[in-house]
Amino acid sequence: MPYGSITLHPVCQQIIKEAFYKKKSVLTKSCEVDLVTETDQAVEKMLIGRIKENFPNHMFIGEESVAAGEKCDLTNDPTWIVDPVDGTMNFVHSFPHSCISLAVLYHKDVHIGIIFNPILDQMYTAKRNQGAFLNDKPIRVSEEEDLSKSLVIAEFGTNRDTKKMESVLKNVSALMNKVHGLRAMGSAALNMASVAAGGADCYFEFGIHVWDIAAGALIIKEAGGICLDTEGGPLDLMSRRMICASSEKLALQIIPLLDQLKFERD
Ligand code: IPD
Repeated sequence: MPYGSITLHPVCQQIIKEAFYKKKSVLTKSCEVDLVTETDQAVEKMLIGRIKENFPNHMFIGEESVAAGEKCDLTNDPTWIVDPVDGTMNFVHSFPHSCISLAVLYHKDVHIGIIFNPILDQMYTAKRNQGAFLNDKPIRVSEEEDLSKSLVIAEFGTNRDTKKMESVLKNVSALMNKVHGLRAMGSAALNMASVAAGGADCYFEFGIHVWDIAAGALIIKEAGGICLDTEGGPLDLMSRRMICASSEKLALQIIPLLDQLKFERD
């Protein structure tokens, strides 16, 4: 797949920046803490609309389009996967940790990944086999291999199902006295970007979606890290669970400690 330079349209960046400090109009989706704002919808519509002008035959999977009833079908065709605001809960609260996540897949492999935090002006990018970057500067994972020295991100997620909530707590209590520190920052894509840039050593989550992790999966790989299924097999982007880490050795120490959950596929 030929690549040009990668960036996000400035108007999309601007929509989120301007909306960030204003009062948001918030709706709920699958449960009362699964939120969507008019900004999520506007950014997705604009991004997909503009991309379609240039690539009318490409396929799209967008978080808000799927929420509105469109199919989430990953084929071998060139496919753009869009999360217009990852970390919507943070965005609603003006907690400056949300981003646009955009990935381009061909034959189900991620070829381009972009994660952009418009509030902090942080643009993480990767092209397949060409490295990973933060604001055009190369980034690299920490390469930490020692569980007791690792900073691990374990998200709570946006699901109030009792089994899921109990599982999150089991994982937190299994890990908290074995690692340097645990964090939960509220954006899957930025969590992955943090592992890629060496700021955190591992992140795992059960119940995420393909639009949360597609861009991050390439950025981590290109930064020298690893993304796996939570049981240690190859990552399946549609399986709704993932662990990524600065090294395979670290991931393999964390995996046996995790309470494993399965979800209906995307
Ligand atoms: C959510 C965030 C959050 C993660 C959830 C995701 P959204 O994405 O990434 O960190 O824990 O699982 O659904 O809904 O804000 O795009």
